[in-house]
Amino acid sequence: MSKNLQLSAEQMRRLGYQAVDMIVDHISGIKNKPVSRVIDGEFLRHKLTEPLPESGSDPEQLLAYLHDHVFNHITHVDHPHFFAYVPGPNNYVGVVADFLASGFNIFPTAWIAAAGAEQVELITIDWFKTMVGFPDSAGGLFVSGGSMANLTALAVARQVKLDNDIDQAVVYFSDQTHFSVERALKVLGFQPHQLRWIETDDRLRISVSDLKRQIEEDRMAGRKPFCVIANVGTTNTGAVDPLNELADVCREVDAWLHADGAYGAPAALTDKGRELLRGMERVDSLTMDPHKWLFQPYDAGCVLVRNRRHLRETFSMAPEYLQDIDLGNDQQINFGECGIELSRRFRALKVWLSLKAFGAESFRQAIDHGIMLAEQAEAFVRQAEDWEVVTPAQLGVVTFRYLPKESATLDTINEINKQLAEEVVHRGFAMVSTTTLKGKVVIRLCPIHPETTLEEMHQILVRIVELAAELSASCKHPI
Ligand SMILES: Cc1ncc(COP(=O)(O)O)c(C=O)c1O
Repeated sequence: MSKNLQLSAEQMRRLGYQAVDMIVDHISGIKNKPVSRVIDGEFLRHKLTEPLPESGSDPEQLLAYLHDHVFNHITHVDHPHFFAYVPGPNNYVGVVADFLASGFNIFPTAWIAAAGAEQVELITIDWFKTMVGFPDSAGGLFVSGGSMANLTALAVARQVKLDNDIDQAVVYFSDQTHFSVERALKVLGFQPHQLRWIETDDRLRISVSDLKRQIEEDRMAGRKPFCVIANVGTTNTGAVDPLNELADVCREVDAWLHADGAYGAPAALTDKGRELLRGMERVDSLTMDPHKWLFQPYDAGCVLVRNRRHLRETFSMAPEYLQDIDLGNDQQINFGECGIELSRRFRALKVWLSLKAFGAESFRQAIDHGIMLAEQAEAFVRQAEDWEVVTPAQLGVVTFRYLPKESATLDTINEINKQLAEEVVHRGFAMVSTTTLKGKVVIRLCPIHPETTLEEMHQILVRIVELAAELSASCKHPI
């Protein structure tokens, strides 16, 4: 490699083709790979630890090395048999878009630097506004993911509702809310005593009566209920809070309503999803992650705000070295003044390019497929002896547990379900994870990969059921 950090045109092409071949082989051969491997940390440390390399190496050999020693030591969150957490099934068009965004080193921060790119981002945001039923006055931007989107939205809420004076402010959300919300509030300066975890009902949706009671109590004590955070598809179970009722409560007490739809909001593209998400169009701000249920490579999060002026009011700064930039112009937007990041990646490109390439209908079908798979998984578990559906399929998530008839304590049942999930991962035929719902350890399935067939999922469920019986039989203390 030459000192000026350039490759020849021929070298660039060869390296690029090698990378493309690696990616295409990975994507087209993924079903033949184990979902995960038992990672030997010591081996990896030994293999990869080295001092800063003073001289260069052949990049083509480095790619081959990466293939063998790094990319083969990861869990494939894009594997069609990865059902844990929130899977990451991406799409190749989006991958190419990321490559192009880096190749042209696009800087969608200021209109002056990347007008075309900023227009693409504006259009993509407009599509999202239509998808979720937001008015024309709304705006938004792409960020790294749900955590950043929640932080951005809550910073706007703090600005608009409190003018940043948080002293007496109180925030409300259900005990099923993703932890990134609590972390965002911590970053924004809120103390634990200003946060209210509201209990959930048997469907794990926020209890609106408890919320109202708590708000009233806080108001009587002279505190300021300033924001409610609703879930549009919880990570645990896919539960959706009653959005219309929450919007009514917030209107009554003049509080901001933020919805975390990082996982669930894209379901608005489908008929079933739209029905479930009724009221989402009334929230003040919304988090939605294209790198979750819109099949984009990491990273791609998005925050939408009902009144786009609020973004600039919250984040705009006017340092002297940016004085040539036309700040505050509604037509020529500068995304660098609408959020926390100044330098930022052109994340909108992958969403725009893949929506254009495949069309919304393909995405709709892909989302519907995940909803259907979760429903079929629920149906399978319902007819399996010694198994219990704990929460029904909702927005592509279903939870269940092994519950043998013989009496056993909750602790033992919890333990065996944990062991069972571990053993599934260990054997590598699928990846599932557990969570705890009101004291019960459950296996949680999120089968949203568009390439997972119903038959594959059935086979995996059959293996899990067999494994449970096997584990149970070999247990020292039979349950
Ligand atoms: C509901 C919800 N909100 C927020 C997040 C955080 O998103 P990210 O990991 O993109 O920061 C997640 C992640 O799974 C989530 O499921």
